[in-house]
Amino acid sequence: MKNSFYVTTPIYYANGTPHIGHAFTTYLADTLARYHRHFGKQVRFTTGTDEHGQKVQEVAQQNNRTPLEQADLISQRFRDAWVELAIGPDDFIRTTEERHKKVVNNLVKKLMDQGDIYKGIYKGWYLIEEEDFYPESRVHEVSDDPENDPRLQRVEEENYFFKLSSYTEKLKAHYEQEPDFVLPRNRRNEMLSFLEQGLDDISISRAKVSWGIPVPGDEGQVIYVWIEALMNYLTSAGIYQSEEQFSHYWPAQVQIVGKDILKFHAIYWPALLLALDLPLPKTILAHGWILSGGEKMSKSKGNTQDPLTLCERFGSDALRYTLIREVSLGQDGNFDQDILANRYNVELANDLGNLFSRTLGFARKRGESELKYTRQSVKDLPVDELYQKLGDCLREYKEQMDSFQLSRAQEALVKALQTLNQFVDASKPWQLAKENQECFLSFTHLMANCLYTMAQAFHPFLPQSCDKIFRTLGTQPKETGYSIELSQLKDSIQLGETPTLFPKIKLETSKSSEKQPSKKKNKQKSITIEDFEKVKMELVTILEASSHPDAEKLLVLQVSTSQGKRQVVSGISKYYELGDLPGKQVVLVKNLEEVEIRGVKSQGMILAASNKKELSLVTVDSKIQEGSRVS
Ligand code: MSP
Repeated sequence: MKNSFYVTTPIYYANGTPHIGHAFTTYLADTLARYHRHFGKQVRFTTGTDEHGQKVQEVAQQNNRTPLEQADLISQRFRDAWVELAIGPDDFIRTTEERHKKVVNNLVKKLMDQGDIYKGIYKGWYLIEEEDFYPESRVHEVSDDPENDPRLQRVEEENYFFKLSSYTEKLKAHYEQEPDFVLPRNRRNEMLSFLEQGLDDISISRAKVSWGIPVPGDEGQVIYVWIEALMNYLTSAGIYQSEEQFSHYWPAQVQIVGKDILKFHAIYWPALLLALDLPLPKTILAHGWILSGGEKMSKSKGNTQDPLTLCERFGSDALRYTLIREVSLGQDGNFDQDILANRYNVELANDLGNLFSRTLGFARKRGESELKYTRQSVKDLPVDELYQKLGDCLREYKEQMDSFQLSRAQEALVKALQTLNQFVDASKPWQLAKENQECFLSFTHLMANCLYTMAQAFHPFLPQSCDKIFRTLGTQPKETGYSIELSQLKDSIQLGETPTLFPKIKLETSKSSEKQPSKKKNKQKSITIEDFEKVKMELVTILEASSHPDAEKLLVLQVSTSQGKRQVVSGISKYYELGDLPGKQVVLVKNLEEVEIRGVKSQGMILAASNKKELSLVTVDSKIQEGSRVS
């Protein structure tokens, strides 16, 4: 069996900003990539941007940019977003790159030379937002009044056509032979009935669009954007560049797409591959939509969601985990900040985070640093039963992961966590700690072992948090070679720091900030001088500055106040070098409630002036005694 695993996402149009739907698709691919990498596969995960075509050309024009300037800008935005969201593709492809243009030229030329492409007249409609042709017979699918619909453009031009119709039977045969070619089943059936109706040839060029890859031998036409975009999957795999790499990775194991673009991937794409005599991908996986308030998201409805804001608030692990959890394969899933906060608090903070802190954290708090295991000392605990139940959950997890049911795989892991928490309840470690030290240490060792296994299984969904668990246990599993078998830790292990994995988030805050209309927020009532005097501010000196272990934007500052040293977490890392901060006199709000920000204690707030682009710490005009009151 092939040891490679090639997974792709669609390449995103270079006309907008990455939104939560893009983040979802890309998280799915990144999570599958991590999973297969852990289990020893040589993985290639590709995403990128789709940069040609009428849509990008028009947006560029509206913004007074050249199409390439537009594409450069948006492409970079996507790259940056993936870094921020902890998504790590092996390749980020842009369709304006030379490597892609060469591949497309070669492939289209091959199709022309072998007679799969011919010239004809296209007469019908073009829907720019989907970059799709709608002949007269199908235009009713998008509009009742095409003549007056600004989204539609009437087109009559001489184009090149691909003989799609002649591949209908071969495609049907492939669907029959490979039941997993399109997943889930309901989508497969949709595509099959589409095939049953018979396929028409499709136009694969545009005469009146200039932003694209020229048709080989005809500079007057560019290749239809969907046709060349689909070919990106071959470019990234290495076709015409490295035969060795290409044969290693192609055909792809799984190509992830949204249900809205399934026709292109499940009909046009395999037909092109059949014509090119190339193997077809193993599976096209079509996911549903992320809905906001039960509705499809759109700018005009004002219900779009920004993944970067959510990531900043909840962390990339929680965002990834929850998106995948809420949208099970084949269905649409509702998503918003409250849904995220709820899953976060229940499954991450309670089930996983609390399991970690009530076992390993508890032992650590009691000053234990070495966990020793002896079977004899836990002979009265139902360990075999526990292992059996966990084993069942882990097998279920693997089965679901291997059939791309990621949300069900998560469900199996949550069940395992619940089993473990019940085991802790029944074992009463707080009592063991008082009555039987040897048993307590063995019990905690057992829990360390189980948490280690859980962390390996959870790792593709929660990479940053699981790394923290590994650090606590002083183990860092190899990049590959993960296992979901229990009993892998040595009989004696050193217990490290036990950070809070998922600090609880107050639901009311997220609700009230979400629901409060922005106008109201600005119309604050004025406050009295007594109100103002409640805020205690003091001039302090920064002693030390270090990076926050879990958030790029934050710094952890140690400051000296009139009542001793304090620690403050501050979102200023973008604006200050660590070395520039010690010695600065700044203003501290000192009677703010102590909070934990992404696992780090913060005792107060440092004042700064800021706008969207810049930020500067508030300081004093001339040096003045530390601890002076600011009012
Ligand atoms: N450029 C084409 C793809 C070419 S692939 C050869 C394209 N780009 S896109 O930017 O419009 O959308 C890409 C993906 O985002 C699609 O899979 C689409 O389903 C997905 N999503 C866009 N909005 C979405 C949601 N609200 N929810 C889930 N995914 C959705 O199409």
